[in-house]
Amino acid sequence: MSMPQERKLAGEVPGPGSRALEERRRQAVARGVATMTPVYAAAAHGAVLEDVDGNRFIDFTGGLGVLNAGHTPAPVVQAVKDQVERYLHTCQHAVMNEPYVAVAEALNRITPGDYDKRTLLVNSGAEATENVVKIARAATGRPAVVVFDNAFHGRTLLALAMTGKVTPTSRATSRFRARSTGSRTPTATAARSTSPTPTAASPAPTTSRRRSRSTSAPRTWPA
Ligand SMILES: Cc1ncc(COP(=O)(O)O)c(C=O)c1O
Repeated sequence: MSMPQERKLAGEVPGPGSRALEERRRQAVARGVATMTPVYAAAAHGAVLEDVDGNRFIDFTGGLGVLNAGHTPAPVVQAVKDQVERYLHTCQHAVMNEPYVAVAEALNRITPGDYDKRTLLVNSGAEATENVVKIARAATGRPAVVVFDNAFHGRTLLALAMTGKVTPTSRATSRFRARSTGSRTPTATAARSTSPTPTAASPAPTTSRRRSRSTSAPRTWPA
């Protein structure tokens, strides 16, 4: 696929195609799914994304930082096509496959450090964050982790407990979050992942309430 690598508007933004899709979305998609832009993607290549109305934009988000090779690079597209023609999914817990091992080998090779490395592949950033904490707790026997104010670690429960963004993340979800230790410095918050005790499940932890009150200006929507 090719696409001119320039911004070019074909009409209004959002155009009629995006507005119609937005209407369908309202009927079908949960309100909690936030989106930064009002347009709907039709195609993308390199650094440019084309919406369903033919408007082309330079995409500074890049899938929020995960499209390291840009949109639809030919070798990646070909590799995906080749793979889906062989098999889509085996679940590594049922039957292992060679691409899993090859990715692990590549990550071990390019990860800095001259030491023995092993890789575990997971589905999302939040799952990676959760596993980092589980592995560190198992290895060290220590229960707490230190996270920073304004950090974003994902939307699963432990990842949320470690997420230091008040608006909207902490405010909207504070009653579901794990209890933090309450000890806090201007730059870092100690978030204790909890054992399932009645106290750990109590709603609206003190630290979150205090944080909510202390925030005057709304922050920008999270990454
Ligand atoms: C630093 C960081 N950690 C965790 C996550 C969560 O990743 P995911 O949305 O794939 O669960 C993100 C997502 O933007 C992130 O930027």
